[in-house]
Amino acid sequence: MTRAFALELAHGRAVAVAIDDADAGPPEPPEELALARQFGPARAREFLAGRRALRAALAELGGDAGVAIGRGPRGAPLLPAGWVGSVSHKRDLAAGLVTADRGWTIGLDLEARAPRPIDIARRVMTAREAAAVAALDDDARRRLVVRTFAIKEAVYKAIDPHLGRYVGFHEVALRDPRADAAIVEVPDAWGLEVEATCQAHGDHWLATARARRR
Ligand SMILES: CC(C)(COP(=O)(O)OP(=O)(O)OC[C@H]1O[C@@H](n2cnc3c(N)ncnc32)[C@H](O)[C@@H]1OP(=O)(O)O)[C@@H](O)C(=O)NCCC(=O)NCCS
Repeated sequence: MTRAFALELAHGRAVAVAIDDADAGPPEPPEELALARQFGPARAREFLAGRRALRAALAELGGDAGVAIGRGPRGAPLLPAGWVGSVSHKRDLAAGLVTADRGWTIGLDLEARAPRPIDIARRVMTAREAAAVAALDDDARRRLVVRTFAIKEAVYKAIDPHLGRYVGFHEVALRDPRADAAIVEVPDAWGLEVEATCQAHGDHWLATARARRR
């Protein structure tokens, strides 16, 4: 199996693989093939590649490389006891993030860094976030919109096990969307501690997050 990248990130070990890899490695565990059968062909390939990426990251951390990775009732990957993980796919890549379970849940999001043809700022950013980037030129502003989107999707994946409900993009905010260090603000009532990071890697933003009960 070819790794597109393998990185030690702030919230875990990240491995990315090509979704259509001619050398995909050992056959998938039957439990994963059964889950994949619920999906159409393209989605099944992406789902199985995400599992391969998770297993590769798990193996690099000393976990069982042969284990089947399940799917929780709300869609999150279910790692074996003692581990937590998250998955993201973008076009031809599937990435998995894994770390030892120390009470934090984690999230990963992979996004193309190029600005999107459609401006998604209003959907993604709060009024305060939008005001913070308003003076930038359009290309720089749109790139930060996508970066903010990636961070919030990673945050969503990390907080979902605690909240168990859809969370809108305006319910979570970055203190300053321009800052390299992402400071995430969530409502106090959630009782959660949330951290996030985002780094450029080639053509992608790689956002990670973690969350735990305060
Ligand atoms: C679930 C969601 C985050 C997926 O993001 P996406 O860009 O569509 O797709 P990605 O490829 O990055 O991620 C897909 C993976 O997310 C994971 N996922 C899906 N639902 C999840 C959940 N409820 N909790 C944690 N992870 C979840 C799965 O592992 C899935 O891949 P798999 O089914 O192959 O294992 C997105 O569709 C969504 O519903 N977002 C909700 C709103 C939001 O993000 N709000 C942000 C404010 S915090």
